Amino acid sequence: MEKILVVEDDEQLLEILVLFFQGKGYSARGVVTAEEALSLYEDFDIVISDIKLPGELNGIDLLERIKKISPEIPVILITAYASVQDAVKALKMGAEDYILKPFDLETLEIVVRKALESSSLRKEVEELRRELRAVYQGKKLVAKSPAMEKIMDLVRRIAPSDVNVLITGESGTGKSLLARVIHELSPRRKRKFVSINCAAIPESLLESELFGYEKGAFTGAASRKRGLFEVAREGTLFLDEISGMSLSMQAKLLTAIQDKRIRRIGGEEEIEVDVRIITATNQNIDEIVQRGEFREDLFYRLDVVRIELPPLRERRQDIPLLVQHFIEQFNEKHNKRILGIQKDALVALETYNWPGNIRELQNVVERAVVMETGPYITVQDLPDKIFHRRKTDSGLNMEEFLEMDGRFNLEEYLDDEMRKFLKTAVVKTKGDKKKAAELLGISYRSFRYYWKKLGLG
Ligand SMILES: Nc1ncnc2c1ncn2[C@@H]1O[C@H](COP(=O)(O)OP(=O)(O)OP(=O)(O)O)[C@@H](O)[C@H]1O
Ligand SMILES: [Mg+2]
Repeated sequence: MEKILVVEDDEQLLEILVLFFQGKGYSARGVVTAEEALSLYEDFDIVISDIKLPGELNGIDLLERIKKISPEIPVILITAYASVQDAVKALKMGAEDYILKPFDLETLEIVVRKALESSSLRKEVEELRRELRAVYQGKKLVAKSPAMEKIMDLVRRIAPSDVNVLITGESGTGKSLLARVIHELSPRRKRKFVSINCAAIPESLLESELFGYEKGAFTGAASRKRGLFEVAREGTLFLDEISGMSLSMQAKLLTAIQDKRIRRIGGEEEIEVDVRIITATNQNIDEIVQRGEFREDLFYRLDVVRIELPPLRERRQDIPLLVQHFIEQFNEKHNKRILGIQKDALVALETYNWPGNIRELQNVVERAVVMETGPYITVQDLPDKIFHRRKTDSGLNMEEFLEMDGRFNLEEYLDDEMRKFLKTAVVKTKGDKKKAAELLGISYRSFRYYWKKLGLG
């Protein structure tokens, strides 16, 4: 049922309007001042307001404030004077339409119906646009490695249900992206995905962000504000960096989740909230729970399904596809036409350790796309750090070697390693092989010998 808010100081007329719309099958409510309307309008699909009103604000002021905060809600103005100027001003400021007093009710209903239809059409268009943008802009999640394929299998199974999900993983592994993908794969995609970083916001603010407040709840609360639990209703609420949340805030969150109801700060009314909650952390949350710094009861509510995103160095098979994906993304952003990446540059990316995970790879590819003037990214486009490998990162460790069970060949392995060192040294010295030999601590003669033997030139 569509909800109409009528603002009219002539109480007799107000009652007639409300009863008329209710009789037509709408849900309608009437108020006599713009101030009252301001604290209510967010819950309505359309606002009909007289221009001349008794309070400090008139209908035009009301229109202006509504358009500033919720431009999607249509507003229809009623005026007693045939003032073309007022009407033009109203339309310019975003009024859907205006109607002159005296009017007949059937005409008003037609105007309202038209306004509601075009606003729902606009909403649909906006929704489609959002979906398209989601597909073409960065919301595509690359998952080719066995580890990621397994995760995506799980995601496809659990996304359509309402279970809460906890995502863990190092910084830059794609936790925020995955949270959004889960939302997009669920029936809740028609509603909002609302995300908040709990660590970035001071505790007092976090509470009012999540639960909202009533007008006058504290100094500075000049008008009512809805919290994110309400904004996300029937949608998904993503609580990022959950592990640093204070214990008192955790208690409030637990109550909200258990009761599926919240109360705005300073408010009496209990408001039902239907949200799916996805949380993320890059800390070791199990340990934090064990230390007693995170409530166990809350943790069990949040950790219904756990998804652990592995660091990029443990899913190097994703790197080629990620690189291609980011090349396309940044071609668009920087208006370039890079086709791909040269083999040795890709090898360098595949061997680097990626402490900053996918975000770091994304930055490296962006830089390369910007720098390269030819069709392919080359090793010259990559930052030096890609070639500085810490000793411990080099090659296999003994555990990995023992797991290879006869599939290992020492000579091939050493040749591979040597090839990497020779090539990297040559890249670093920009092709000066004598300097490369120095860098490697071998004679130029030896260098030439290995270079040939390893099929490098
Ligand atoms: N599998 C993927 N496919 C494509 N892009 C990805 C993938 N994973 C991450 N990205 C991109 O990498 C960047 C970093 O990912 P995201 O912000 O989701 O990481 P995060 O784990 O939330 O990091 P932090 O812990 O810092 O919040 C984003 O731009 C994201 O779009
Ligand atoms: Mg994140």
